Amino acid sequence: MTNTPQINTALPGPKAAAIIARDAVVVSPSYTRGYPLVMQRGDGAMVEDVDGNVFLDCAAGIAVNSTGHSHPDVVRAITEQAQRFLHMSGTDFYYEPQVKLAEDLASITPIAGGVRSFFGNSGTEAIEACIKLSRYATGRDNIIAFLGGFHGRTLGALALTASKAIQRRGFGPMMPGVYHAPYADCYRCPVGLTSDHCAAECLNYIEDQIFLHLVSPDEVAALVVEPIQGEGGYVVPPDQFIQRLRELTKQHGILLVADEVQSGMGRSGKMFAIEHTGVRPDMIAIAKGIASGLPLGVAAARADIMAWPPGAHASTFGGNPVSCAAAVVTLRLLKERLVENSADVGGHMIAGLRALMDKHPLIGDVRGRGLMIGVELVRDRRTKERASEERDAVVNAAFSRGLLLLGAGKNAIRFSPPLVLTRQQADMAVRIFDEALMEVERSRQSTTNTR
Ligand SMILES: Cc1ncc(COP(=O)(O)O)c(C=O)c1O
Repeated sequence: MTNTPQINTALPGPKAAAIIARDAVVVSPSYTRGYPLVMQRGDGAMVEDVDGNVFLDCAAGIAVNSTGHSHPDVVRAITEQAQRFLHMSGTDFYYEPQVKLAEDLASITPIAGGVRSFFGNSGTEAIEACIKLSRYATGRDNIIAFLGGFHGRTLGALALTASKAIQRRGFGPMMPGVYHAPYADCYRCPVGLTSDHCAAECLNYIEDQIFLHLVSPDEVAALVVEPIQGEGGYVVPPDQFIQRLRELTKQHGILLVADEVQSGMGRSGKMFAIEHTGVRPDMIAIAKGIASGLPLGVAAARADIMAWPPGAHASTFGGNPVSCAAAVVTLRLLKERLVENSADVGGHMIAGLRALMDKHPLIGDVRGRGLMIGVELVRDRRTKERASEERDAVVNAAFSRGLLLLGAGKNAIRFSPPLVLTRQQADMAVRIFDEALMEVERSRQSTTNTR
């Protein structure tokens, strides 16, 4: 496969169009396909579609392919494990890959003291486990989460999710006992301050409103927070936001759960994004990048908290041996080089994207850590009017030039490439993004002129 994007057909090409037509008849229409990519194979950060078009991947299957597509070490570990056995249910039996992974996780998770892991198959299951365990361990019912947060779509996790209304619409009633507080989005500060004056005042809402009017803190089991909001728009809060959350939760005996499903596994330039703040949570939800693309979700918790009895919680497929084998190798690759690469190439890419702000008034904000980068598009930098249609148009224009991106929130674009991305590939992505912005700005200009 070439190392540069190459588009040889109209998009979608004929083979892709045929598959999409079949999909339209039999697959759930609830999926949110922004553009018609039909994948054939992948290699590192490059992807080829069924018509032979080659793309640079800055989406990584929604921030999942941490080690790149089909990393040979990961494929080897998967193959070897698959040849030995595919499944034996770690719920009822033992196998070494699950133990090894739990040991490795215990050595890297920034949780104080001993660490135990519960294994599921997805991010939402990791969150379900965190909800259940925090209720079980504290004997309390209620949970605090944040507006703009995304924690999954099963009914417990969905009650915490407050990203887009469509994700909840028609599915009520939600699980009771969940309260939402404003998230520290400094570009759109919920309490009208600027980031240089921020002391995480938005958190006063929890004490002054939620604890005063709605729920007593001694009835709150957990506070669940993304250290960097993912689906909500790749929003990076100030460190003091997470630090104050830790103080608040300690003060009231509330468990602090970091949802690192998207921000974890090296994406932010550290193994876990919460490490940037120095805070040690009580539990961490992990999924996406942990197994390079195989399904795996983990609720890692302080060992003294994860003290539920046999039968309390389990999953037939959770901690599948093939997924665990992939995860063990993924962790090794991340530790050896890729977390560092994420920090290095991510910093380089953020600088490249910020430099585009001089040319493109559509860019309101560039933010991120490591290779978790968000670019928020606005119609006017002063009013910050959200440029949602323009965002979709830019993502599509990038696709037609061979760059895979995804939206996040109402009007942001996320760059979440495989962590093997090189500086050269980052430059290529910035160059294509520049062209895509130019195309959309031009067409906006001509629409305005013809009005
Ligand atoms: C922060 C966060 N938590 C939980 C989830 C749910 O993960 P999954 O889709 O694997 O259930 C996601 C998915 O995007 C996420 O970004």
